[in-house]
Amino acid sequence: MTTHDIINRRHFIETAGVAAAAAGFLGSAAPARAADAPPAANAKVRIVGISGSHRKGKTTATGLQMALDSAKAVSPEIETELIELMDYKLLPAVPGGEIEDDYARIHAKITDPSVGGIILGSPVYFSNMSALMKMFIEHFGPYKKSGALSNKVAGVLTVAGVRNGGQEGVAQSIMAAALGVEMIVVGDGRPTGHSGATLWNNAKDDITQDEFGCSTAKGLGKRVAEVALRMAGKARS
Ligand SMILES: Cc1cc2nc3c(=O)[nH]c(=O)nc-3n(C[C@H](O)[C@H](O)[C@H](O)COP(=O)(O)O)c2cc1C
Repeated sequence: MTTHDIINRRHFIETAGVAAAAAGFLGSAAPARAADAPPAANAKVRIVGISGSHRKGKTTATGLQMALDSAKAVSPEIETELIELMDYKLLPAVPGGEIEDDYARIHAKITDPSVGGIILGSPVYFSNMSALMKMFIEHFGPYKKSGALSNKVAGVLTVAGVRNGGQEGVAQSIMAAALGVEMIVVGDGRPTGHSGATLWNNAKDDITQDEFGCSTAKGLGKRVAEVALRMAGKARS
């Protein structure tokens, strides 16, 4: 069975199951999509970081972990997970094609109703996102119909080797993909107020030396968590 078969089957089962439970197959008030199903009332709101770096545990992963820690600090209702795409075998997504890769495992994690926000992190490679992040995003095709990522909050974090190395351009590109699957895109919020976290690897992979970049990562995590809590009806203010 291919990744697309698994995803399509899972979406069908989820959607049919949710609709049946909600409306007893009478079809009246059934949610339109599985993604609209609310998480259980006592469920924590999960924020997932996705690292598209080709180097595990380096600056992109460290920046994302910083953002996730900041998200977690917002509320005890938040829990986090960092996914490194290098841990998965991803192949080019061919529309309607046969893909024998690991995407179904990532799909299960990111589309879970407990996931309220996803922080997408990529290093800048030749002024673009990494090939791995692009490969990951190119698996989003079915979500345009299924809505499996709809209304989840998206934040973007980018890391480059120089100050103006392409961070903002890459962030815009990833944001466009998130908008295409009905995610709610947020930036790093006050006081920095930019389009996400933009980090500069200016100290031989010790990203903690980039004080400004780290503040944008922390701001992004906080903002994603705050909006995800609000979307889950758990906001305090
Ligand atoms: C193939 C490649 C292309 C790169 N292109 C750029 C670039 O266009 N602009 C830039 O500022 N840095 C560039 N860099 C530097 C990386 O963005 C930077 O080292 C980043 O911190 C790497 O992320 P990582 O620590 O998660 O591997 C490039 C690095 C590689 C390996």
